[in-house]
Amino acid sequence: MSFIQLNDIVKEFHDPVRGTKTLAIDHVTLNVEKKEFVCLIGPSGCGKSTLLNMVAGFEKPTTGQVLVGGQPIVGPGADRGMVFQQANLMPWLPVWDNIAFALKLKGLSKLERQRAAQPFIDAVKLRGFEQHFPSELSGGMAQRVGIARALLQNPAVILMDEPFAALDAQTKLEMQEELVAIWQAYSSTIVFVTHSVDEALILGTQIAIMTHRPGKIRELIHIDLDRPRDVTSAEFNQLKRHVMEVIREEAQLAREAASYEHAANQPVPSI
Ligand SMILES: Nc1ncnc2c1ncn2[C@@H]1O[C@H](COP(=O)(O)OP(=O)(O)O)[C@@H](O)[C@H]1O
Ligand SMILES: [Mg+2]
Repeated sequence: MSFIQLNDIVKEFHDPVRGTKTLAIDHVTLNVEKKEFVCLIGPSGCGKSTLLNMVAGFEKPTTGQVLVGGQPIVGPGADRGMVFQQANLMPWLPVWDNIAFALKLKGLSKLERQRAAQPFIDAVKLRGFEQHFPSELSGGMAQRVGIARALLQNPAVILMDEPFAALDAQTKLEMQEELVAIWQAYSSTIVFVTHSVDEALILGTQIAIMTHRPGKIRELIHIDLDRPRDVTSAEFNQLKRHVMEVIREEAQLAREAASYEHAANQPVPSI
C-alpha cells in the first residue's frame, strides 16, 4: 500500500452566487511511495494547488479518497506540513517562535520550544537569526522559516506549493539544493507543486504532468538522473524538451478551451 494515495479523485467547485460549477479535478489516481519527491507540474489553473490542498486536508474531494499512511484525510493535520509561495509568518514573533508555533499551541514552555526548534533552524541554515523578526528577513530566509516550521510539524510528509516561485534565480538554486539535502537527511516524502520544468527536473524522483483543466494526470515520469542534477547534460535536456512539449500542448489546449467557452457565452449576433 502506497504512503500517499489519491484514489480516483474528482473535485468540483460550486459558486452559489453565480450559479456556476467548475470541474477542477477529473478522476485523478496517484500513489506516492515513502521517500519519493513528486513534482506536480502543469499549465496554470489545471488543478495543482487543488490536488495538493486535498492532501493537506484544506479541501475535500467531491468523490474519491485521499489517504496518508493508510488513514483517510478528513482535515488538516499536524502530520502534514505545508509550505506556500508566501511564508505567511507571524510578524510579531521572532524566527524561532514562528518555527515552533505549533508547540506553543500544545502548551510547551519557551525553553522546550527553543530546544525543539534548534535542529530545524540549523537544517535550514538560519543559525544566528533565531531572534530576528520576519520584517528583517529576505524572501529566501522567510521561506527557510516556512520550511523549518513544516519540518518541525513532521519531517515525514512535506507539501509544497510553488515555494520558490517568488525568489530570485540565485536564491532559488540555493534553496533547491538545500531542499534536496533536507529531503535526504530526514527521509521525507515530498509533494511539490511547480510550474517550472527545470525545478521539477532538478528536484523530483518523479514528475506528474497534469492536463489542462479539468486536471488529470497525463504522464508520470520517473527521473533517475544522478544528483546533483546536471542541467547541462544531454539526458536532462532530452527530458526537459519532452516535458516542455507536453506542457506547451496542454497550455495551448487550455487557451482553445477558454476561447471556446468565451464564444459559447456570447449573445448570438443578430443579422
Ligand atoms: N475555492 C475555489 N472555488 C472555485 N473555484 C476554484 C477554487 N479553487 C480553485 N478553483 C478553480 O479550480 C481550477 C484549478 O485551480 P488551481 O488548483 O488553483 O490551479 P493551479 O494551482 O494548477 O494553477 C481553476 O479553474 C480555479 O479557478
Ligand atoms: Mg496553484
